[in-house]
Amino acid sequence: MTEEDRVGETVTMTRMRPVDVAERREAPPEARETVFEVRGLTAGYGQSTAIKDVELEVYRNLITAVIGPSGCGKSTFIRCLNRMNDDIPGFRHEGEILYHGIDLYSDGVDPVEVRRRIGMVFQKPNPFPKTIYDNVAWAPRVLGLKKELDERVERALRAAALWDEVKDRLKRSAFSLSGGQQQRLCIARAIAIEPEVLLLDEPASALDPIATSSIEELMHELKRDYTLVIVTHNMQQAARVADRTAFFTLEVEKSQRAGVLVEYDETEKVFTAPSDKRTEDYVTGRFG
Ligand SMILES: Nc1ncnc2c1ncn2[C@@H]1O[C@H](COP(=O)(O)OP(=O)(O)OP(=O)(O)O)[C@@H](O)[C@H]1O
Ligand SMILES: [Mg+2]
Repeated sequence: MTEEDRVGETVTMTRMRPVDVAERREAPPEARETVFEVRGLTAGYGQSTAIKDVELEVYRNLITAVIGPSGCGKSTFIRCLNRMNDDIPGFRHEGEILYHGIDLYSDGVDPVEVRRRIGMVFQKPNPFPKTIYDNVAWAPRVLGLKKELDERVERALRAAALWDEVKDRLKRSAFSLSGGQQQRLCIARAIAIEPEVLLLDEPASALDPIATSSIEELMHELKRDYTLVIVTHNMQQAARVADRTAFFTLEVEKSQRAGVLVEYDETEKVFTAPSDKRTEDYVTGRFG
């Protein structure tokens, strides 16, 4: 009996299409509010270029997915959106990233303030070696938001769909949580200071399917209050959660490799009727 038969035996689930695109309706273009406007963004490290000439807009209260093969610059791109690359030796960029019309990299813009408004969650859950409570309370404390801290911590844990699981053990170490719970704790930590945007770089790739599905449900909840940009390797995931999808690929020109944005559109369009052959090859699994 093959592995597939065994799974088929024990799980009664309707078969999914290769990529099952959730039905959703997007606001008409004129009703969308632009959060980021990326113009001619080229970024790299030292002599090498990671992404070249990226142009796109990110809209408010939507989930935007960034997909593409390994090394095409997804992480570099998303990290440009909150200046998370600033401290990487050799990092350089050209072009503009306008956040509500203000260039994030212009003089006088404080990167700490940028990261306060634009939070980030990483691939591997990275709670601090502190209690569950202190993880969530950490950023508010740093910012001096000490009033009604208990309420703030509870609000963030509820928003991250973790409260019921941890309310009786807030003083225990964050490491006592499962991987999926730790990732939701990291989301709670990021939203405790009420940012506007959450950037998530492969937030579920280290998690099992059940924890992954709770993170996906959580993203649906969060988009009511936040704008989300998520990098994912998992195309099913992009198709399930994202309103819009940006497909990047690696282009080789004069033996120089750089990531380029091939297509950016409503998720359904990208997965079911892509306009570029390279997107089609990728989403149908012929490449990548
Ligand atoms: N800190 C760094 N220093 C130097 N080069 C880097 C650094 N981070 C990424 N790069 C290079 O930039 C390019 C794009 O990498 P990036 O991590 O953005 O890709 P990615 O699409 O996120 O890949 P993956 O799917 O494997 O996470 C790669 O060639 C990579 O080697
Ligand atoms: Mg990456």
